[in-house]
Amino acid sequence: MRQAVQFYLGDEHCTLSGLNPTLTLLDWLRDRGKTGTKEGCNEGDCGACTVLVVRLDQDRLVWRAVNACIQFVSMLDGAQVYTIEDLGTPDAPHPVQAAMVEQHGSQCGFCTPGFVMSMAAYRKTPGATVDDAQIDDALAGNLCRCTGYAPIVRAMKQSMSAGPDRFDAQVATITERLTTLNDGETVQVSGAEGTLTIPATVDVLADTLVQHPEATIVAGATDVGLWVTKGMKQLRHVVSIGRVPELRKIERTDEGLTISAAVTYQEAKPFIADLLPDAAEMIRRLGSTQVRNSATVCGNIANGSPIGDGPPMFIAAGATLHLRLGNERRSMPLEAYFIAYGKQDRRPGEFVEAVTLPVPEKDVQFRAYKISKRFDQDISAVLGAFFMRRNADGIITSVRLAYGGMAATPKRAANAEAALLGRRWDEATLDAARAAIAQDFTPLTDMRATDWYRRTVAANLLTRFFEETTGGPQARLARTGGLAHV
Ligand SMILES: Cc1cc2nc3c(=O)[nH]c(=O)nc-3n(C[C@H](O)[C@H](O)[C@H](O)COP(=O)(O)OP(=O)(O)OC[C@H]3O[C@@H](n4cnc5c(N)ncnc54)[C@H](O)[C@@H]3O)c2cc1C
Ligand code: FES
Ligand code: FES
Repeated sequence: MRQAVQFYLGDEHCTLSGLNPTLTLLDWLRDRGKTGTKEGCNEGDCGACTVLVVRLDQDRLVWRAVNACIQFVSMLDGAQVYTIEDLGTPDAPHPVQAAMVEQHGSQCGFCTPGFVMSMAAYRKTPGATVDDAQIDDALAGNLCRCTGYAPIVRAMKQSMSAGPDRFDAQVATITERLTTLNDGETVQVSGAEGTLTIPATVDVLADTLVQHPEATIVAGATDVGLWVTKGMKQLRHVVSIGRVPELRKIERTDEGLTISAAVTYQEAKPFIADLLPDAAEMIRRLGSTQVRNSATVCGNIANGSPIGDGPPMFIAAGATLHLRLGNERRSMPLEAYFIAYGKQDRRPGEFVEAVTLPVPEKDVQFRAYKISKRFDQDISAVLGAFFMRRNADGIITSVRLAYGGMAATPKRAANAEAALLGRRWDEATLDAARAAIAQDFTPLTDMRATDWYRRTVAANLLTRFFEETTGGPQARLARTGGLAHV
């Protein structure tokens, strides 16, 4: 058992004992005089606080941009973190810094350190290219009020063809350091402001939670971080599961894809894309690169939010949730986990171990649609996810329609499903299902949408599913004798 958290800040070895388990990395850095990392929103939205975190994953270095404002410093155990101060100097700038100067990528400069860190991380991303969409995706989590994004994107592209940076020469050193840091010890740190446990194995995690069922599980902290920075909550005992080796697994079999509890959306995305391409496109729009680099798939489920994007998609896909309490394990259809607003079927001391997405049969049609005010990095007003199978005669033999944003939990549209099952997938059936949706949900009006908007969108997404799975508006108009254009 180790009684301190250990990591590298730049080239400095840091050992912290007695620390507040929810002290954010941003506060810690700024209190140490590392003020290049800025605080903009303090809730993961603006990217001004972006830092570069390097971890060892199966003997390979993985470089990720993360938001320091919602990352607890305790979560850095075993990692090396770089801030803007570590990147380059005026005499020897990092290629990204040089390109930002040459392309006039900065005005007031407040967002600039965050952009530069995201850009430095992008250069280290396997498969990164100068493709506009890919770059937009990498930088969607950084907001700038004054420069406009074009010069920043130009700087990103320019820096991609620049030579190596200082990190390339350091790979062997960093690998050696991180190998030493990751000693396989459980970490237990207690101080005046609370206790931190970082279990080294899943069995230690299970025991810890049985003994301390009141403890707060933290995976990526992209939800919990906001309880602290915005809700001013003090968590007395944090159990950080991000580095539990058994929970870092992704397993693909002929039957399904099992994503364990510490796997992030960024890591799971290619595997989900292979199974459900439409779900992967939604994941691309879940938060930002920085958020997806920390946010876990299972945290998105465990959090139980009615507007989380993963749960409706995974319910529609027929997912099974796996839970563990001590040595006892149980599994349930994912939808059964969500009981009421803020209430899930999870007993004290129990934790989500994994979620399994079944491999869809070849003739399955699956679509997911996210409606949000801003296209990138915005919470959904409504998310509709639809799964359907039809037999050779075109009769619907299996259907799951799941929505987020329409009720107090992610929920299936039972009446609409009943209107579809056993029917031919045609305009009359669509109309019946659209009408039935009105009985399935009584959505709220809030800052994201009115109840009317939500009800209308929920029905219209079903129409979109119909159009896409039956040949589109052109084919529909041709069938109904309408004009062959829309
Ligand atoms: C800027 C920003 C944008 C976002 N955009 C989106 C979005 O577009 N769509 C969306 O769906 N979400 C979004 N989120 C929310 C968040 O990123 C997701 O819900 C994320 O997947 C949560 O995972 P996490 O690992 O960070 O969970 P954490 O914050 O670590 O935990 C979340 C909750 O789950 C519990 N928990 C975590 N793991 C377990 C476990 N294994 N067993 C039991 N309980 C557990 C925690 O105790 C806590 O209650 C956004 C968040 C931010 C900050
Ligand atoms: S301060 Fe805005 S994302 Fe951290
Ligand atoms: S340069 Fe001013 S916010 Fe980006």
